[in-house]
Amino acid sequence: MRHIMVMNAKGGCGKSTLATNIASYFADEGYGVALADYDPQRSSLDWLDRRPASRAAIVGIEGFREGLKRAPRSADFIVIDAPARSHGAELTNLVRHAETIIVPVLPSTIDMQASDRFIKELRSVGKVERKEAKIAVVANRVREYTLIYEELDEYLTSARVPYITALREAQNYVRAYTRGLGIFELPEYLAWPDWEQWEPLTRWMRSKRSQP
Ligand SMILES: Nc1ncnc2c1ncn2[C@@H]1O[C@H](COP(=O)(O)OP(=O)(O)OP(=O)(O)O)[C@@H](O)[C@H]1O
Ligand SMILES: [Mg+2]
Repeated sequence: MRHIMVMNAKGGCGKSTLATNIASYFADEGYGVALADYDPQRSSLDWLDRRPASRAAIVGIEGFREGLKRAPRSADFIVIDAPARSHGAELTNLVRHAETIIVPVLPSTIDMQASDRFIKELRSVGKVERKEAKIAVVANRVREYTLIYEELDEYLTSARVPYITALREAQNYVRAYTRGLGIFELPEYLAWPDWEQWEPLTRWMRSKRSQP
């Protein structure tokens, strides 16, 4: 059983967006998937409530209430949506649940600064230092050819953490969330540019590089 956690202490960077898309990606591939929401805002569970019954099933878990106790033993993947503002003991405790951690970062000075502190803190957690959990960063909501994206790209390239991909700012993410779908479940003519940007991330998640 794999545990993939999406986390960043900074709010609004796309944790729930990535978590729901990762969960639906693996469910579509035929894997047993549970989506554990550790955020009392319940954004991932709200998304799951919207998911059509005709789509590949995903089990929802109220991680914020009861941890992973109710995670089905048969699940191949547990995707964990971590809450914002996790630091110190809470952060260490959350990291205990995952072997793969993805940190989304937005192209904004405020976000980059906050994320830089967060990534440093995350890298100093014993489990990450011992390489028992692998971390990676993903740029999110990028608009190409903007100065701030160039800055983010440079920052993430130099961040001493694998920088996997940059996801564009697109209404597709809003549309998909509203319908309880993932980006891979939208029609190809709409979502192919997003599928291309996700390819390095799905490849990384499936590779040994993302596992201890
Ligand atoms: N690539 C994207 N393109 C367009 N909109 C996006 C993208 N990624 C996220 N969003 C939007 O940005 C907002 C914040 O995203 P999301 O809720 O996933 O962030 P979060 O990190 O989970 O926030 P919180 O810290 O509040 O839990 C949402 O309205 C979401 O639809
Ligand atoms: Mg969220």
